[in-house]
Amino acid sequence: METNPPKLKAVIAADARLQKLKTAFENKYGECPAFYASAPGRVNLIGEHIDYCGYAVLPMAIEQSIIAAVSVNQSGSIELANTDPLYRDYSVSCTADIHIDRDNPHWFYYFLCGVKGIQEHCGIRELAGMRCMVDGSIPASSGLSSSSALVCCAGLATMEANHKMLSKVELAEICAKCERYIGTEGGGMDQSISFLAEKGTAKLIQFNPLRSTDVRLPDDAVFVISNSGVAMNKAASNHFNLRVVECRLATKVLGKALGLDSTGLMKLSQVQTELQVSLEEMLRLVEEKLHPEAYSLEELTQSLGTEVLETVLTENTMHVSLFQLYQRSRHVYGEAQRVLRFQSVCESGGADALSQLGALMSQSHASCRDLYECSCPELDRLVDTCLQSGALGSRLTGAGWGGCAVSMVTRDKAESFLRAVREAYYPEDPRRTALEQQRPLGDPLEQQRSLFVSAPARGATISVE
Ligand code: GLA
Repeated sequence: METNPPKLKAVIAADARLQKLKTAFENKYGECPAFYASAPGRVNLIGEHIDYCGYAVLPMAIEQSIIAAVSVNQSGSIELANTDPLYRDYSVSCTADIHIDRDNPHWFYYFLCGVKGIQEHCGIRELAGMRCMVDGSIPASSGLSSSSALVCCAGLATMEANHKMLSKVELAEICAKCERYIGTEGGGMDQSISFLAEKGTAKLIQFNPLRSTDVRLPDDAVFVISNSGVAMNKAASNHFNLRVVECRLATKVLGKALGLDSTGLMKLSQVQTELQVSLEEMLRLVEEKLHPEAYSLEELTQSLGTEVLETVLTENTMHVSLFQLYQRSRHVYGEAQRVLRFQSVCESGGADALSQLGALMSQSHASCRDLYECSCPELDRLVDTCLQSGALGSRLTGAGWGGCAVSMVTRDKAESFLRAVREAYYPEDPRRTALEQQRPLGDPLEQQRSLFVSAPARGATISVE
């Protein structure tokens, strides 16, 4: 099994996107790039908001990616530019401590997260100078992991520029950790699939230790991604971190109620591991031990103590006063069950496999909407539209609160499904239509459109000419 990101021979002339990127690089810096580092986005098929609780998730990489064209030098600085004029240039010294400003999550700070992660992991005192031109085809703030792909791309580029050798698993772990410099407490799914993905297969990603297993998706179904048109940047609000914190608090409260020493417990999966019981039993224990009313800060302070609270709360959740522990843990344990069922249905097939998979996806959406409260009215509307247009299952994908839905459709219905959703959802709001028409068919950047069929793509690569 290959453990390092593959190094490919790039035939620039045959790849319109690389060719454009190469030209942009040459125009900007007056030299040729030495290599290209590429990291894909992902669509999560099922298993939302459970990676940071220690549970397995089931994503696949998508064709859309972040690519950096890179040259290496001894200039003592890292220069960053982007093919999208919306994203401004930035440069930073290789000798100074790399600073990441959490209050202003600009694109280049994500890149610098990756650089810093590799620098620290490999103990590099002085980084090689780099000139980078970055090109992204993953729509930003859409739940398809554009930010993590940028971090992964930067980590890979920094590894290559500094002649280091790391396995895909190491890279995924480093990039999951270093993305937290920007302030979000993500769980590692995005970086793992970006490095571990293989063309043609979805993956079950398991944590502690990080590993991936191929999941063969049914031949007679396709997965369609549709953008709700509502942007969600998880570093720009506290929605995401608040959910992470609620899960940690639920772990502590549940652990304590069950008589466990909850000092080292931070993830809901650890409670299950300690007790050695099934997910079914965990759901029953949540019913028994947690109350559906929100927990107030006072109640939590009384039960856990100030010190424990301080280890759990993040900078942007310090001032929250109510926490929904019962609802969040019911979602997590239920969603963890659905992931395992999804995998087992994919494995065993059977006559009604598609309808079982579809039902699991739709149950996942309902749980995200009602228990985890990470949907929004537009996403709910989009998911309903997808179901009415013939999808067997449909759900929000990624962090939520906006971004995309993923739907499973039988292959023979794909065309009529796309047409029906295009006609029913996008014209309702002129902003959605603008998004849908942004890239005309046949445009090399067609993949940026907001409604498309997606097949499992390959993971991160380095390419040289
Ligand atoms: C974001 C995070 C992931 C995961 C998803 C929700 O994409 O980066 O780690 O938690 O949200 O499933």
